[in-house]
Amino acid sequence: MKDWTKLLEYYKEINECQKCELARSRTNFVFGSGSQNSELIFIGEAPGYNEDIQGKPFVGAAGKLLDGLLNDIGLSREVVFIANVLKCRPPENRDPRKEEMELCKDYLLRQIEIINPRLICTLGRYSTSLLLKTEQPISKLRGNRYIVDGRAVLPIFHPAAALYTASNLQVIKSDFQRIKRILNGEEKEEISFVMEKEPVPPAEVEVKEKEKEKEKSPDQLGLF
Ligand code: URA
Repeated sequence: MKDWTKLLEYYKEINECQKCELARSRTNFVFGSGSQNSELIFIGEAPGYNEDIQGKPFVGAAGKLLDGLLNDIGLSREVVFIANVLKCRPPENRDPRKEEMELCKDYLLRQIEIINPRLICTLGRYSTSLLLKTEQPISKLRGNRYIVDGRAVLPIFHPAAALYTASNLQVIKSDFQRIKRILNGEEKEEISFVMEKEPVPPAEVEVKEKEKEKEKSPDQLGLF
């Protein structure tokens, strides 16, 4: 049986949340939107002004860009699911606070569990650091596929970072092509890392592998 009822029930269960002070200033609790049957979830940061007013994620300028990027790969917001780390707008769009993220985290994790997607795409540093449990910069993590608690996670830039920076737009466009290939099962390249602890970005892995090689064969090295 499909889980849309579960998601709706979950919405009813949490939409009056009062766990943090953002509840006092919000217009709407922004649960997320899209298809409950989706194979793909996008996770942004937090609702902004427009999202707070409309009660839907990514309906402002960054959302328009996201719509275009989805369109480029033959998808639309109706067939994916879009959510945020925080369900309520931080005043003046300030950055999410650690304690707010901590309090809101279980909502997102439960949504992921209900939808059970094949791929989770984290948009920008907040959702990436939350799911990958790392403070490493998004610039190092983006474009690599990770396995976290048995689920594939692909961090990419936040669309807002690509709004006014042409080079970021090129990167995000190419990462969307990657999303398409992953969903089409065309990716032969395998998972970057299974996340157990802090991930090590690929460049550092290479260096470490080389160092290990050196350690394994000190005699050989001594010959030259
Ligand atoms: N930015 C986000 O991270 N989420 C939104 O919903 C809108 C803008």
